[in-house]
Amino acid sequence: MRIKISDLLLCLSGAQYAISPVVSRHHQQVAYLSYRICEQLNVSFRERQDIYLAALVHDAGALSIREKFEIIESEPIHVNRHAFRSARLFEDFSFLKPASKIIRYHHVPWNYGEGQKYRDEDVPIGSHIIHLADRTCLKLNFKKNVLSQVPEVLDDIRLQSGFLFSPELVQAMMDLKEIEYIWLDLAAEHPVRNMMGDVLHSADLGIDDIVSIAQIFSRIIDFRSKSTSRHSAGVAKTAEKIAEIMGFSPNECKKMRVAGYLHDLGKLVIRDEILEKPGKLAPEEYCEMKSHTYNTFQLLSLIPQFQEINAWASYHHERLDGSGYPFHLKGEGLPLGSRIVAVADVFTALKEDRPYRKGMDDDAAKKVLWDMAVGGALDAKVISVLFDHYELLNQLRRQTQREAEVQYKEFWGNEAV
Ligand SMILES: [Fe+2]
Ligand SMILES: [Fe+2]
Ligand SMILES: [Fe+2]
Repeated sequence: MRIKISDLLLCLSGAQYAISPVVSRHHQQVAYLSYRICEQLNVSFRERQDIYLAALVHDAGALSIREKFEIIESEPIHVNRHAFRSARLFEDFSFLKPASKIIRYHHVPWNYGEGQKYRDEDVPIGSHIIHLADRTCLKLNFKKNVLSQVPEVLDDIRLQSGFLFSPELVQAMMDLKEIEYIWLDLAAEHPVRNMMGDVLHSADLGIDDIVSIAQIFSRIIDFRSKSTSRHSAGVAKTAEKIAEIMGFSPNECKKMRVAGYLHDLGKLVIRDEILEKPGKLAPEEYCEMKSHTYNTFQLLSLIPQFQEINAWASYHHERLDGSGYPFHLKGEGLPLGSRIVAVADVFTALKEDRPYRKGMDDDAAKKVLWDMAVGGALDAKVISVLFDHYELLNQLRRQTQREAEVQYKEFWGNEAV
């Protein structure tokens, strides 16, 4: 299995703005416009690729929906915080190291040339390109005809030339003003699908790199709230180990880890208040929460190579007796991989502290799991594997979740920017 890094980022980062139709394509639009500005400036092929990838995930560190709206509505005082956080997410992944540096400074103002540095560090030109593309995209109202707005929006941008944006970059964008197709592409359903040629040749990733990116995305999913901060890491590890014990091949075990990391991807669309609610959810809130596996399914469907991973990940609330959701699959309709993720998910959730209850002790957790197996909801064979290797699996889960806890603290710890 090999997947283009741009396809993977496109699918996963698209989820981040699925919250609102007004901004649903923000990452794609900024990537598209940045790329067009690069072409105008004859930026080298390599750099252009990095700027494109950086733009696709530039706001990924703004985890809460509240903060996402904050940064699209204005340039808030602490605007660098989400940019630094986004950069931190990707800096350890070799393919995205240059992109990570570009992301870090994507809100640094040009400030008449002073913005070429930020605290003695060089600010890549890509950061200024993304800043310009970002602000331009946010001034356009994509619900209305976009062509009629371009002159006024670009005039507005020009007023900030020198102060916010580099005059050279502003000029490059002014040269795009009359080229209708660019603005029409920007307003289209999938702006980057309209790009031809070189961007499509971005690096192919093998399974180990896919595991790494999936892990980064598990942090974007989990780190929104303290209560979920270690969840996907625990599910991924438990599911991978159960699969290994049940005879899955090493490659399948890695795919299982990806499924574990991404099983709650659809939660990115769930509102902060629901995610963090300390008590029981009201009926309407529960309905919203229930849509998360459906969202995971739709998002992962965008990557054809993920068909199996998608089934394993998205069916984690399906139950063997048909009582689960949203597809009400039962029995044979549920592949073994999906049954494993379902067990890993329930087991991990029972052992975690939740806003409305403490994590359960081993006996109590085993009793719930056993009752679910006897009742026909969870696979009894998978549960027996869990019980037969309980000490090992629980210890691995605990260890992995401790590590995730440390990463969670590091991620939020350094906000002095
Ligand atoms: Fe931003
Ligand atoms: Fe943005
Ligand atoms: Fe879930």
